Amino acid sequence: MPELDQVMPLPSKNEAVTEFLKMRRSNMAKMMGGAGPSEAELSELLSIAARVPDHRKLAPWRFEIFAGQARADFGKHLGAAFMKNNPDMPQDRAIFESARFMRAPLVVGVISSPVECKRATPIWEQQLSSGIVCYNLMIAAQAAGFGAQWLTEWYAYDKDIHAALGMSDGDQVAGFVYIGEPQAPSLERVRPNMAEKINFWEQ
Ligand SMILES: Cc1cc2nc3c(=O)[nH]c(=O)nc-3n(C[C@H](O)[C@H](O)[C@H](O)COP(=O)(O)O)c2cc1C
Repeated sequence: MPELDQVMPLPSKNEAVTEFLKMRRSNMAKMMGGAGPSEAELSELLSIAARVPDHRKLAPWRFEIFAGQARADFGKHLGAAFMKNNPDMPQDRAIFESARFMRAPLVVGVISSPVECKRATPIWEQQLSSGIVCYNLMIAAQAAGFGAQWLTEWYAYDKDIHAALGMSDGDQVAGFVYIGEPQAPSLERVRPNMAEKINFWEQ
């Protein structure tokens, strides 16, 4: 990674990046396997993920890492929170819910944690920065040859899960990025009609 004040390269044509972005698709969390990134690879992925536009350099987000046994341990919170909200559900549903993080070898929770500052950066801008962290992490993971998917699902919005994640008031889950070896290719999905999305503004 670059040093502080290092002269950074000017943008130059990079067809590999353009092609990668043109063809980019998420990989399904439930179709991931393998060992996942090594410790060194994960450290690099997170450093890349954190290189996002960030108004006033607040870094208003943090990472919560789930790998190995931590995925099953956190699953106990998932199962308990689900059954608390859905007491009439059969017990095998708790088993299903508690296995959510087992779908991939690595799950990275990105927590939006807006910072109070003197010249306030609007919360919305701080939350947008968290969103790009998720996307940057996906791109970094895919560029390293892993599959990646950004999910929230019900547990991103659950108070007990927020407590288990050590979240403070005002924090929100930006996403859980599932990372692993893709077990199957994705198919292209429907895309918006760009003509309906673009307007050249005129007086
Ligand atoms: C903030 C956010 C939350 C998402 N949460 C879910 C989710 O809970 N479940 C789901 O099936 N897809 C979810 N998605 C969508 C997938 O990550 C993905 O974008 C989609 O499956 C396919 O789009 P893509 O292949 O173009 O990336 C979410 C996307 C975003 C941006």
